[in-house]
Amino acid sequence: MATVFSGIQPSGTLTLGNYIGALRHFPPLQEENDCYFCIVDQHAITVPQKKKELRHNIKSLAALYLASGIDPEKSVLFIQSEVPAHSQLAWMMQAISYIGELERMTQFKDKSTGKDGVSSALLTYPPLMAADILLYGTDIVPVGEDQKQHLELTRNLAERFNNKYNNIFTIPEVQIEENGARIMSLQQPEKKMSKSDANQKSFISMLDEPAVIRKKFKSAVTDSENEVYYDQLNKPGVSNLLTIFSECTGRTVDDIVSEYRHAGYGAFKEAAGEAVVSVLEPIQGRYHDLMASSELDSILDNGAERANTRAVKMLTKAERAMGLGRK
Ligand code: TYM
Repeated sequence: MATVFSGIQPSGTLTLGNYIGALRHFPPLQEENDCYFCIVDQHAITVPQKKKELRHNIKSLAALYLASGIDPEKSVLFIQSEVPAHSQLAWMMQAISYIGELERMTQFKDKSTGKDGVSSALLTYPPLMAADILLYGTDIVPVGEDQKQHLELTRNLAERFNNKYNNIFTIPEVQIEENGARIMSLQQPEKKMSKSDANQKSFISMLDEPAVIRKKFKSAVTDSENEVYYDQLNKPGVSNLLTIFSECTGRTVDDIVSEYRHAGYGAFKEAAGEAVVSVLEPIQGRYHDLMASSELDSILDNGAERANTRAVKMLTKAERAMGLGRK
């Protein structure tokens, strides 16, 4: 049985990109693995957050995990800040990280370039992510394409620690699906779909009403050719819609192309939007039920307890290996 760990930031409602690239791959993994799914609220505060919104987003993300098929009987679902070992091991990971390697992280460059008052936590975000993963002896980390670099750093830090102190950490493998690991903006298809995009039309929120989803697909940017086929370089908009369509229906891109090649962009975009509605609508139904129930708190309490029990063991080993305290 392998150990699986993944995390999502509660920094706004999740997008279709988060769902297709990460979340939807989690439920099948629960059947045969020891799974830990985390609401990484400490990662979220690396950029300013409003207290009430953050609280709401944490609860909302817990409900979205469950509504998407995470079963608390099979997986441990918990909030990062409720398991102190994460920030404790993160400090130790920072101690073995070099500023240069952290400054080279693309996400740090994207989020800090040209900004005033960049927090130091934005720079030390990856050692916290390494701590998340390494605490559980994780074998597999399912994520979207944009996390690849952070995972490479995690592996480097684990190896560095193992060589320098004691061989205690499992070197995790990243699991990035071949298709759908990078869902693009509906308005600027050369950019990643992101919840922090100022243009609401560029992303589908997992909680968008069906009418809103249909509208956003209608206005998705394509090209002037009016022929549907996959060509990521020259037809990034159409190719992104084909990927989304395929991921939401289980149909191959070729199969979709053979049906819509000459159907016109209007009909194609409408069908792609409908495919997304049919995936998200049932999740939204379960989400609203969960938000109205009192189940969430007990699930998260139980998750925090189970995660703490496991995490403390590795933390103690790491402290011992480094010579901290008196253990
Ligand atoms: P976050 O919260 O930005 O995204 C959560 C997951 O969604 C994936 N993702 C996408 N996949 C495809 N297309 C997109 N447009 C898209 N946008 C996001 C991300 O790759 C991710 O898998 N640092 C992480 C959270 C984290 C974590 C961890 C993940 C903290 N600790 C430990 C794994 C293991 C992040 O910011 O993800």
